[in-house]
Amino acid sequence: MQQMWTEIDSYIESHLIPEDPILTQTLKNTDDKGFPDHLAVAPNQGMLLQMLIQMNNCKRILELGTFAAYSTMWLARALPEDGYILTMEGRDTHAALGQENIDNAKLKPTVELKCGRAADILRALPEDTEPFDFIFIDADKQSYPEYLELSLGLSRSGTIIFLDNVIRAGEILNPENQKPSIVGLRDMFKAMQNHPKILSCTALQTIGSKGHDGFALAIVK
Ligand code: DHB
Ligand code: MG
Repeated sequence: MQQMWTEIDSYIESHLIPEDPILTQTLKNTDDKGFPDHLAVAPNQGMLLQMLIQMNNCKRILELGTFAAYSTMWLARALPEDGYILTMEGRDTHAALGQENIDNAKLKPTVELKCGRAADILRALPEDTEPFDFIFIDADKQSYPEYLELSLGLSRSGTIIFLDNVIRAGEILNPENQKPSIVGLRDMFKAMQNHPKILSCTALQTIGSKGHDGFALAIVK
């Protein structure tokens, strides 16, 4: 099935996702430096992120898990010139690659990359940090429950929270899989259920060039 999913993603991309030299350059540099490409969002998912941001006139974006900054490029494309992205990455080598790709892209909105554990960075933000309009959670899956809670604390009513990779080829349903990442995702689902700060939420499975996975989406009350 994987081959067909990939071909269909290519079909979608060739029709609906315009080529962008910045995005192409980011993927090329990532590949040239020997980093894997499966961690990046698929282009049609990048476009979905862009559209959610555009629909809601978001200006301030928080991203947990920069990796090569490919998704950061999609987030930036959706912002006005005075928009702002705070992105963070836990692994030094990934942060260096992400910073290089961000510098090369010469993006108009301000993009600030911090290196360190997202939970520590978020807790250290100044008390008067303005809430974010859109939050993309894509860092270590083990910490998703913690990231969700911290994100809710940096939100306003109407903030959109998008959590990537919450299905993991169905491993969330495999009782034998007790990896911290999978346990973290299950705990995230439990935390989202009837959360007093969440207005509405859902999750969708996705199949495509990146295999079988999915995302969760929440609107803050
Ligand atoms: C993995 C992480 C991601 O954020 C992603 O989009 C795909 C895969 C991973 O850790 O395997
Ligand atoms: Mg991801």
